[in-house]
Amino acid sequence: MTKMNGTDANRVIIFDTTLRDGEQSPGASMNLEEKLRIAAVLEEMGVDVIEAGFPIASEGDFEAVSEIAKVVKKSTVAGLARATRADIERAGEAVKHAERGRIHTFIATSPLHMQYKLQMEPEKVLERITESVTIARNLVDDVEWSAEDGSRSEHDFLCRCVEAAIKAGARTINIPDTVGYAVPDEYAALIGMLMNRVPNADQAIFSVHCHNDLGLAVANSLAAVKAGARQVECTVNGLGERAGNCSMEEVVMALRTRQDAMPYSTGIDTTHITRASRLVSSITGFPVQPNKAIVGANAFAHESGIHQDGMLKHAQTYEIMTPESVGLTKSKIVLGKHSGRNAFKTKLEEMGYKLGDNALNDAFKRFKDLADLKKDVFDEDLVALVDEETRVNDRINLVSLEIRCGTVHRPPHASMELEIDGQVKACEATGDGPVDAAFNAIKALFPHDARLQLYQVHAVTQGTDAQAEVTVRLDDHGERTAQGAAADTDTMVASVKAYVNALNKLLTKREKKAPEALSA
Ligand code: KIV
Ligand code: ZN
Repeated sequence: MTKMNGTDANRVIIFDTTLRDGEQSPGASMNLEEKLRIAAVLEEMGVDVIEAGFPIASEGDFEAVSEIAKVVKKSTVAGLARATRADIERAGEAVKHAERGRIHTFIATSPLHMQYKLQMEPEKVLERITESVTIARNLVDDVEWSAEDGSRSEHDFLCRCVEAAIKAGARTINIPDTVGYAVPDEYAALIGMLMNRVPNADQAIFSVHCHNDLGLAVANSLAAVKAGARQVECTVNGLGERAGNCSMEEVVMALRTRQDAMPYSTGIDTTHITRASRLVSSITGFPVQPNKAIVGANAFAHESGIHQDGMLKHAQTYEIMTPESVGLTKSKIVLGKHSGRNAFKTKLEEMGYKLGDNALNDAFKRFKDLADLKKDVFDEDLVALVDEETRVNDRINLVSLEIRCGTVHRPPHASMELEIDGQVKACEATGDGPVDAAFNAIKALFPHDARLQLYQVHAVTQGTDAQAEVTVRLDDHGERTAQGAAADTDTMVASVKAYVNALNKLLTKREKKAPEALSA
């Protein structure tokens, strides 16, 4: 059984990598202020380790890890680093102000990755492991080492790598299923084998990091926990590279709901799950599929008559966990145009939002504007409104918009003012439809060659006065993609804001270069 430095041996550490691996989802990117907001929610919900970024990747990543390290007090803050001195020192610098800072360093250990990607001999990789963990340990006490593509690594060699990493001072050993290839019993056996065979295995906590290419990330993680792993790496909404990572809400709720089969605990206050999911979705512009486990809109909806009848007689007939346990409250009218600042503040606090004075004033003003347009303001409207905070660091912001559309033979027309790098610019444009005209106006005011890949609209609540939530994805001719989202009672305003949001994110992404693989 894994030693937990005197703590409960069945306690599973939740390591959230939404801000690092999650941000590697094609199209997802977050600015500093957005990352800080997500980190605050993760800390509040009891996440043990927040992987805040890859500090060497860009100035923005470094700043995000460093700022999060300064403000987060309860969770450990980790920065990722390849096995080079430059990467590790940058990560060490970024986490140096953290109450609890961790350097997470990795190198690939599978034959495929070593031969083709790293072009390094296995013995050289072993040397690098000792060197890199030693450098990291000279900077911080808490070092995690990862065997990239661990699940496809040769067993004897992997044992030697793990032993070397522990000997050099790594206290967490992570065995990623980088390409989502593993199946549960095989992956559990791999973790069990390492824990049994590596002579100093009892000096480290074993961790798992599963990708979801075959839809098995959660199953693999749970199987590994049963085999002795005591850290699970995961992301909110399962965000992440390609098909994503192990979904935090699914793994946490599975452990909580099936205590009989899996008697392990986490430190997560599950009532924050819905809020975290909505926040990540609205910031990244990645909608949550309606039938997604735990956080999908239909996850607690019962449609069939037989199910509804059963539910009315006894909720547990069809409900294995309560909506309240994941922080889902029934959609009800909460406030209207006559509600005061205090009622607004209290309601936000009940929903888990603690805003500072300035942010509260801004949000209250936006609420009043919304209540003028919309008779009933629901919980979902408030979530969209608070998440729709002014993006202070953005280069481009919408100032005003007027649209003309209709059935007569005049082309749809947009008049628009944008603030670009602090200067307000205006223009008029036409297009095939109102959305096209508005997007043409943005292109005229801020010429760029990004292509529109996705334009999607959905209503936040019901009724014709509901806010529209628009998602826009732009692509930089195959090189990068960025997704933006915005909500407004006016679909056209939401569309323009979502486009501008995606464009701002694409501009930030251009500053960030993807770190290349190491070479010998
Ligand atoms: O998937 C992976 O192997 C990773 C490592 C860097 C931990 O994300
Ligand atoms: Zn990963």
